[in-house]
Amino acid sequence: MEQTVVLVKPDAMQRGLVGQIISRFEQKGLKLVAIKMMELSDEVLDEWYAHHKGKPFFENLKIFMRSAPIIAMLWEGLEAVEAVRKLCGVTKARAAEAGSIRGDFGMSQQLNLVHASDSLEMAKKEKDLIFSPGEIFSYEHGAHPLIYSEEERE
Ligand code: CMP
Repeated sequence: MEQTVVLVKPDAMQRGLVGQIISRFEQKGLKLVAIKMMELSDEVLDEWYAHHKGKPFFENLKIFMRSAPIIAMLWEGLEAVEAVRKLCGVTKARAAEAGSIRGDFGMSQQLNLVHASDSLEMAKKEKDLIFSPGEIFSYEHGAHPLIYSEEERE
């Protein structure tokens, strides 16, 4: 099973969308293995968005990401990276598919409510940046036999 990182960004925090956003991942059948509320430091953001360094929106993006606390989560599931990205929708929220989180709640390219790891490699890097091993939980998900077939669970 893959693990992938989701951040509820400051705009979603301020707009009171935390519960609805978490519900989307729960309803899909993903398993929550870590969650915490935190402020992102400048150092973490430099690392997190290293691939965007030098782009015109980089500094404003960091200011935005530090404008309120965020919720960081680690979700687990079969091909979870791709499944979670689909639930979030494309970066530009006003162009995102109806039914996705950004498609249903957002209009902005920067204030796009959520972050999701874009690959398994990034998920690993982001997980290590945010969570210590003691904050990640291993447990039986009671609904797994109803969510996955036997072969998929092997
Ligand atoms: P995300 O895909 O989670 O990670 C990079 C973030 O940068 C993206 O969400 C947006 O919040 C922001 N972003 C991407 N492109 C732009 C842009 N053209 N202008 C402003 N912000 C952007």
